[in-house]
Amino acid sequence: MSQIERLANERVIVTGGAGFVGSNVVRRLLSIGASVVVLDDFYTGSEANLPSGHPDLEIVRGSVTDYDLVRKVVSGAGAVLHLAARNIIVSTRNPREDYEVNIGGTLNVLLAVREARVKRTVYSSSASVYGNPRYLPINEDDATNMLSPYAVSKFAGENYCKAFYESYGLSTAVVRYSNVYGEAQRPDNPYCGVIAKFFQSAMAGEAPRIHGDGEQTRDFTYVDDVVEATLLASVSEKAEGQVYNVGTGRETTINQLARTIIQVTGSNIEPEYIDRRDIDNIRRRVVNIEKIRRELRWVPSFTIEKGLRRTYEWLVEASKGASQ
Ligand SMILES: NC(=O)c1ccc[n+]([C@@H]2O[C@H](COP(=O)([O-])OP(=O)(O)OC[C@H]3O[C@@H](n4cnc5c(N)ncnc54)[C@H](O)[C@@H]3O)[C@@H](O)[C@H]2O)c1
Repeated sequence: MSQIERLANERVIVTGGAGFVGSNVVRRLLSIGASVVVLDDFYTGSEANLPSGHPDLEIVRGSVTDYDLVRKVVSGAGAVLHLAARNIIVSTRNPREDYEVNIGGTLNVLLAVREARVKRTVYSSSASVYGNPRYLPINEDDATNMLSPYAVSKFAGENYCKAFYESYGLSTAVVRYSNVYGEAQRPDNPYCGVIAKFFQSAMAGEAPRIHGDGEQTRDFTYVDDVVEATLLASVSEKAEGQVYNVGTGRETTINQLARTIIQVTGSNIEPEYIDRRDIDNIRRRVVNIEKIRRELRWVPSFTIEKGLRRTYEWLVEASKGASQ
């Protein structure tokens, strides 16, 4: 039995479970026989991301900012995976909304978890807390440097997890994702990441549009790997009170990414260069994944090429479904 299968008989709450990463977590949990409750306000999430009428899936439409609702949902849970959040674009536009959901919502989840004595809570954070790092690859205990309100709110959520662990003995773990991509990241969602956008352009025969010179780098992580890391953090004893980077340990430039997507889709186009955006203030990012490899025995199974091919297959299937 794999460690993750220990969740088979648990009631697991996934906040933000209708979103991109959350819906992949939900599908994996259902596949191992867990009973899953999704709490989502459908701000960016969609019912289309979730299986319909699954007997082990309950969907609660509501916000993590509603404390009474969070308490009700969390009661009786074996584990809570807290992914609900406003994304970086919303947060840059409206920092107050980001503060209320990403910080206030996280506090609500932790208060409810404490009351319900939930065995483990996993918080999905972001490598954006590192800002422009001084050294690469970035280790978990390197300096943080928040360059956006989103990074501030994600880091505040982390710190609340740590404070609840230290002050009340709550069993929390933090996973810091680095640029996730793959199935369920829909290009028609205005908040989707660069990979979904590049695919959308390439599949329409249009040039992918690169902000800046394209030499900025990221550590792109395929969603199935992120799901496994998150679930391992929810069952492993070693994860209690810990923070883990989740990435590939490989750096990819936006230019390389555009070229690979053009190749994978077989398009005959060249990228187009446009002005850089204010949310693109991080030049290089690649995370060190030794800690999670050593402690949770997690290793990414997708290279960028393999992940992009899988993503393309899903997009082709999804577009067939949409046109039927
Ligand atoms: N996608 C990435 O590259 C990435 C990178 C680092 C961290 N993360 C983190 O992973 C988590 C999931 O991100 P995602 O990419 O799946 O984004 P997403 O926007 O697809 O998912 C977020 C989900 O949370 C829901 N939500 C938002 N506000 C809510 C509220 N007030 N109450 C209840 N639900 C609410 C949304 O409707 C959506 O379903 C987030 O916490 C995000 O900060 C994502």
